[in-house]
Amino acid sequence: MGTFLYYGLSRIVYASVDSSLLSRAKALATLIHEDKQETEFEFSDDVMWEYSSPKSNNFFQIRGIDGITLEKSASLEESELTYDPKTGPATFQTVLLKGNPIRQINFPIRKEGEGNWRGIVIQCAEAIRDKITLLHTFGLVLAISVLFIMAISAAGGFFIAQKALRPIQDISGAIDRVSESNLAERIADENVPDELKNIASSFNRTFGSLERAFSRQRQFVADASHELKTPLSVIISQAEVTLRKDRDSQEYRIAIAAILEAASMMSLIIEKLLALARFSSDTFTLQMEDVRLNGIIDKSLKLLRPLAEKKRIVFNMPAGEEYSVHGNREALLETFVNIVDNAIEYNVPGGRITISVRKEGEFIVTEIADTGIGIPEGDLEKVFDRFYRVDTSRSRRSGGIGLGLSICSEIIRLHGGSIGIRSKIGEGTVVSVFVPGAVSE
Ligand SMILES: Nc1ncnc2c1ncn2[C@@H]1O[C@H](COP(=O)(O)OP(=O)(O)OP(=O)(O)O)[C@@H](O)[C@H]1O
Ligand SMILES: [Mg+2]
Repeated sequence: MGTFLYYGLSRIVYASVDSSLLSRAKALATLIHEDKQETEFEFSDDVMWEYSSPKSNNFFQIRGIDGITLEKSASLEESELTYDPKTGPATFQTVLLKGNPIRQINFPIRKEGEGNWRGIVIQCAEAIRDKITLLHTFGLVLAISVLFIMAISAAGGFFIAQKALRPIQDISGAIDRVSESNLAERIADENVPDELKNIASSFNRTFGSLERAFSRQRQFVADASHELKTPLSVIISQAEVTLRKDRDSQEYRIAIAAILEAASMMSLIIEKLLALARFSSDTFTLQMEDVRLNGIIDKSLKLLRPLAEKKRIVFNMPAGEEYSVHGNREALLETFVNIVDNAIEYNVPGGRITISVRKEGEFIVTEIADTGIGIPEGDLEKVFDRFYRVDTSRSRRSGGIGLGLSICSEIIRLHGGSIGIRSKIGEGTVVSVFVPGAVSE
């Protein structure tokens, strides 16, 4: 921009000097007359006054085409304007006159007298030191402005970058502050510019899910300890009370039976906790093979038939197509045992359990429907949570731990499938197990 302005102005200055020189040369040309032998000049004092002294800064010199000086201005004194006989029609040049820069026009004309003509060159010049000084000053001002603008831009850029980076620093500060013990901290997004709001809310979402995961973990440890504490205190109190005095063998038998029951309960809890820990570990993989699903369901029903018969519950599994899934036989058996066990446990005496299998897209869907007490709408989502029992009073009566469905959902997750549950209070519950598979040949 500076370069453009500088050359623009210098073009304007030279154009104006050149046009004034041209009009001076033309004015002089009108005052030259050609006679038979000689050339006459009708220069009045008015005209000459302009060229009277070197200080007037205006010069002229009139030459014949051969370069011989016919007339020159007083302002030139003893010096002469540069003359190159080869110069063509009206040319401009910048030269030095006694060390001072001047702009000069060489303006050839043809003067015709009576029957003959002569070539004459009118040279007009003007000192341009002040104009060159003006241009230099202008160039200097431009250079200073450019430096000044650069300094301001650099400072402004630095300031803007600082301002733009501050929210990022704030965000990283907040991330640093978030540690396991302080997962509740969030990035305050009111001062965050729109461009960074997405990052801030992504981090906040991540912190949120981490916080939930950690609190679930803490809750799990607390629940597990609590569950183990109950049978343990039964064992301790039974032993203490029994040991307080001598007892007959019948009393010992009763006490030991109570201790055995509590210990078995503990063993069951620990077994389920271990299974859950194994299935939900990130590094655990199941040995998978193609297995017949119908066979596994049949086996689970066979295992649980005595339990069902105690409650006069009948199984109903309509004959249908055979399906095979890619999975682990023991894990799938455990899943169906847990689900059918629930269907018996939370059924009414004399109830029914209907098992149906069908193909839906790439999944084999097994539905276990019971005619039991059902699950309230609000609890449906939570039954897969660890240690969750819908109504502790009724579960404790039947001895549930609340881990069965959690184990099922981990196993089915490892199979790349999912479990759904729907229920109506007083009518029954339907558990649907989705496992990838196909109709077997
Ligand atoms: N078919 C069902 N009908 C009604 N309620 C059910 C049914 N299946 C599960 N539930 C409810 O969901 C809760 C969680 O079931 P889950 O199998 O995980 O635990 P549990 O049966 O209590 O204990 P366990 O670990 O011994 O199986 C149960 O306590 C019960 O209240
Ligand atoms: Mg259960």
